[in-house]
Amino acid sequence: MSIEKQLGLKFPIYWNNWPIEEEFAKYLVYKIITHRPVNIVELGSGTSSLIIIKTLEKLGYDYTLTSFDSDEEFINNTKNLLISEDAFDEKKIKLIFSPIKDLELNGNVYKWYDPNDFEFNFEKIDLLFIDGPVGGFCKNSRYPALSVMKKYLKEGSLVILHDARRSDEIEIVEMWKNENPEIKNVFKIDTERGGAEIKF
Ligand SMILES: C[S@@+](CC[C@H](N)C(=O)[O-])C[C@H]1O[C@@H](n2cnc3c(N)ncnc32)[C@H](O)[C@@H]1O
Repeated sequence: MSIEKQLGLKFPIYWNNWPIEEEFAKYLVYKIITHRPVNIVELGSGTSSLIIIKTLEKLGYDYTLTSFDSDEEFINNTKNLLISEDAFDEKKIKLIFSPIKDLELNGNVYKWYDPNDFEFNFEKIDLLFIDGPVGGFCKNSRYPALSVMKKYLKEGSLVILHDARRSDEIEIVEMWKNENPEIKNVFKIDTERGGAEIKF
């Protein structure tokens, strides 16, 4: 059965090279069912936001999803996508346009979201899904995520990085492992573009 049918979607998903691939979507659904995250943060909105929300709605418990995007038009597209599937509830879901800025970390300058946008009203992120910023913005563009959100990553937090077959993402995972002794395990997600599952 297609994922659209399983999640009760009204419209077909436009699977192309930008959103997560279908196999990865199935992995995300499985992780949400088994891990039961309450506070979810997503970098790079879109199809993945819809998959996450529809799974959570089927499970039926209370949650928050805070999804960031550096492209204002794209975040409006995501909002329309969610509205068209009756999946946009402002009490649970925040879509945040966060423009790309220079961010200096350990002497390197990254092109990343505005770190000032990353203050939450909860203590722990249960699931951090990283699928942005766009890889080409700078070398290791997704590296800053853990540095910026470190205070919300605690025992039991799950971090999922998409596109982990790329050389930048392979390097990022190694950097994170070296800098975060709290990381307990790292697993490979074996899909077309690949992923890394990082357990705190
Ligand atoms: C890999 S995409 C994120 C995809 C998202 N997680 C999903 O599953 O749909 C990373 C960023 O690329 C940008 N983007 C997404 N689709 C795009 C498109 N078709 N053309 C240009 N930029 C796009 C958005 O700003 C997005 O946050």
